Amino acid sequence: MLADMNPAWVTGDFQEKVIKLYGLGVRRVLVVDEEVPYPDGRLIVSRTDLTGVITHVNRSFVEMSGYAEEELIGAPHSILRHPDMPKAAFRDLWDTIQRGQIWQGHVKNLRKDGRYYWVKATVIPNVRCGRIIGYTSVRRKPDRRKVEECKMLYAQMRAKEQLDCL
Ligand SMILES: Cc1cc2nc3c(=O)[nH]c(=O)nc-3n(C[C@H](O)[C@H](O)[C@H](O)COP(=O)(O)O)c2cc1C
Repeated sequence: MLADMNPAWVTGDFQEKVIKLYGLGVRRVLVVDEEVPYPDGRLIVSRTDLTGVITHVNRSFVEMSGYAEEELIGAPHSILRHPDMPKAAFRDLWDTIQRGQIWQGHVKNLRKDGRYYWVKATVIPNVRCGRIIGYTSVRRKPDRRKVEECKMLYAQMRAKEQLDCL
């Protein structure tokens, strides 16, 4: 279960959307159309267990997501899922890392206050004695041109996903 977003967390105008999360049902999210720029020179790091439940976050993760560390540890990573992200991107992420490979991609993340931030993510399987025991994601500041490309590509992917569901 992932609690719905609360209007008290959000400042300014927001749109309410409902997203479907894998294995977790639906979540009501509140979306503000304002980007928070990725801070220069920072790495945003998290670790998860095999199911994508967060087990570790660094200070930059806490600051950029807007959630307290206690709210993040034990929560599914989809706590940051933005409705503009296509499902296929995360399917590709999971398929890749479950095969033991590294996934790289650009992700639009939803903050607790409803605003968003773009990252360039590298997700790495953590292997011990030949078995995957969890995953680590390290995010860097994305290239603006790449973000603009992803905005268009993801909008097309989302439109296709919506048509496929009709
Ligand atoms: C290490 C790791 C880091 C992840 N980081 C993010 C992230 O920053 N934002 C995000 O929306 N999903 C992230 N995910 C993917 C989520 O687990 C989830 O698949 C995604 O939010 C879509 O939700 P859904 O799978 O319930 O459809 C990450 C997964 C892993 C394993």
